[in-house]
Amino acid sequence: MKLKEKVAVITGAGCGFGMSRGFPTIFAQEGAHLVLNHYEQDEGRMMEFKRELEGYGVKVVLVEGDISLEETAKRLIDAAVEAFGRIDVLINAAGISNPKLLVDITTEDWNRMLAVDLTSVYFTCKYTVPIMMKQKSGRIINIASQVGQKGSVEHCHYAAAKAGVIGFTKSLAREIGQYHVTVNCIAPGPIETQLMGVVSDRWRKDKQAELVLPRFGAVEEVLPTAVFLASEPDGNLYTGQTLGPNLGDVML
Ligand SMILES: NC(=O)c1ccc[n+]([C@@H]2O[C@H](COP(=O)([O-])OP(=O)(O)OC[C@H]3O[C@@H](n4cnc5c(N)ncnc54)[C@H](O)[C@@H]3O)[C@@H](O)[C@H]2O)c1
Repeated sequence: MKLKEKVAVITGAGCGFGMSRGFPTIFAQEGAHLVLNHYEQDEGRMMEFKRELEGYGVKVVLVEGDISLEETAKRLIDAAVEAFGRIDVLINAAGISNPKLLVDITTEDWNRMLAVDLTSVYFTCKYTVPIMMKQKSGRIINIASQVGQKGSVEHCHYAAAKAGVIGFTKSLAREIGQYHVTVNCIAPGPIETQLMGVVSDRWRKDKQAELVLPRFGAVEEVLPTAVFLASEPDGNLYTGQTLGPNLGDVML
């Protein structure tokens, strides 16, 4: 168990990277207690998921709410401190995708994308960082996207948000390295989750043709990168980095 008795706060729980076989499950299997933010998920299913995670012998706290709101982020971090008195890992995985050409993106679409995929990261970090600075330890892992690195048609707003997350991550890493807190991004390529369900067949075909490894990935192929960044000594020397489980879509 690489994360035994660590405390991990994870947003975006309840589907995709946040569901069974996702970040919460692998972190529970590695021994971490969990504080999970979920939004618009079935309450019964979330309770079932909580019990499933507790089966690994860890404690689980659920915090419902829209993480693009500062109030939710504060409530999430307060709940973690109240339950466990510390936060070792923060994973910002909540996100939306709404593929549209620029000419079709409304101001409302744009603002919502930036609020959920970028501003939420600012909010959760704003409340977590003082705690990690005080502890003189912590790992922040932001889920960006390869789209934020190379762009993609129908994703101007999404790419802008994810590129913002990468820039934010590098800056925060520079600010708080002296407190032994690391801040990194994972920028996956296309992974089969609900989020992928909204792209067109044409987009899928064109994207697959661009990939060096000519297939889409599975959630479980991304998770070990997060465990690696959160673990000691594995992730000790990584900060301000963008790790790319992206099937060769981006090579840096
Ligand atoms: N699937 C991919 O191909 C892929 C590739 C690169 C990056 N990502 C990123 O990975 C992260 C997870 O995506 P996924 O593939 O699991 O998608 P998903 O749609 O399956 O899951 C997204 C999660 O975010 C939550 N969420 C959405 N809006 C929210 C809000 N306002 N407040 C709180 N939670 C909210 C949803 O409830 C859901 O649990 C996202 O940030 C996404 O951009 C996904």
